[in-house]
Amino acid sequence: MKIMVIGGGGREHAIIKRLKENPAVEQIFALPGNGGIAADAVCVDIGAKDIPAIVDFAKETGIDYAVVAPDDPLVLGCVDALEAVGVPCFGPRKNAAIIEGSKVFSKNLMRKYGIPTAAYRVFDDPAEALQYLETAPIPTVVKADGLALGKGVTVAMTREEAFAAVREIMEDRKFGDSGSRIVIEEYLEGPEVSVLSFTDGETVVPMVSSMDHKRALDGDRGPNTGGMGTIAPNPFYTPDVARACMEQIFLPTIRAMKAEGREFRGCLYFGLMITKDGPRVIEYNCRFGDPETQVVLPLLESDLLTVMQAVTEGRLKDCPVRFRDGAACCVVLASAGYPGSYGKGYEITIPAEVRDHVFVAGAALKEGRLVTSGGRVLGVTATADTLAEAVKAAYALADTVTFENRFCRRDIGKRALSI
Ligand code: AMP
Ligand code: GLY
Repeated sequence: MKIMVIGGGGREHAIIKRLKENPAVEQIFALPGNGGIAADAVCVDIGAKDIPAIVDFAKETGIDYAVVAPDDPLVLGCVDALEAVGVPCFGPRKNAAIIEGSKVFSKNLMRKYGIPTAAYRVFDDPAEALQYLETAPIPTVVKADGLALGKGVTVAMTREEAFAAVREIMEDRKFGDSGSRIVIEEYLEGPEVSVLSFTDGETVVPMVSSMDHKRALDGDRGPNTGGMGTIAPNPFYTPDVARACMEQIFLPTIRAMKAEGREFRGCLYFGLMITKDGPRVIEYNCRFGDPETQVVLPLLESDLLTVMQAVTEGRLKDCPVRFRDGAACCVVLASAGYPGSYGKGYEITIPAEVRDHVFVAGAALKEGRLVTSGGRVLGVTATADTLAEAVKAAYALADTVTFENRFCRRDIGKRALSI
């Protein structure tokens, strides 16, 4: 089989490494991939949003199966375009990817079907939003409707911050058309849990739960990032919470999407907050999370391609999906300065015996050498019987990987280990 994976980050590297294990896979192409992914797939210089070029490549190359990993191409209809030329895909069609592509859509869906989430109001007029904020309870949360590179959410601890967020999104158009509508919602408190799931639109199979560490600095301080590390499973996701999530959130969401004529096939990511009143949906993503995938897939015991094809073909009910006992930790190595500006082009050294544990996100090949090219450079994952061992092993491995300006958090997993 010839397989194509759209995307070029650590998540895609983790997906590719697992797909490779299936003996039916002859070749994997990554569009565009990156300098580190090039060790495991053929990288093709086509951007993840260039749907016409992706479709042409798939036809010319005779691609048998495609995995569309990032949000942008999914929301733009990459799966629909590939299916139209007969390429089966893992990932939702455009009409289902809207669950991530529009926060207004997802909030209205949850309201209509009674799925627990923060109370909210939608605004398309900045003056009305600002007027509402004059008396709204503070803290509050302001969210741009559309995709905003993961930066469209402001948790406003003061009224001034909330006003500023509305102005930036709706008046300055910081995120372009993604900000023509906004959601202002109730501030919730509690530990956050990420649950990725496989679903074919009928059956939903949650994967092992995980915890992201979004802030740049130890102790959850500093600016928000794309994620500085992850652990799995998440200890706040107890069996009772899992049961409540299945009954109140996972199944109702799958059924709601089907009832709306928007059957979701692919990986549906539930961003949850475990409040004192029970679990609430913070966000849906229409795809695997990054860097959650880098701890979830290493714990998958079943063959990834087999499960993905069962999702695509609507036979997930009959496909066993097993995760191994134990835990995983991923430590992200970034360039100092990230998420602000940072230097690039520094050579990366990875000992040969550590390579299996490394998922490369922001690196390029320059004259055969791997050099940094992004803020988050790579993630190093270890699995073990216990979380404490996995964390220790991940740091031990990560500390053998070197490059100039290397920076990481030293406390990934600390909160999870403290409960
Ligand atoms: P996102 O960019 O959608 O991943 O959201 C960023 C972060 O904002 C989430 O991980 C939460 O920590 C926080 N957040 C989003 N919605 C709320 C809410 N209603 N209450 C409190 N925090 C929230
Ligand atoms: N780690 C969160 C995300 O992928 O959106």
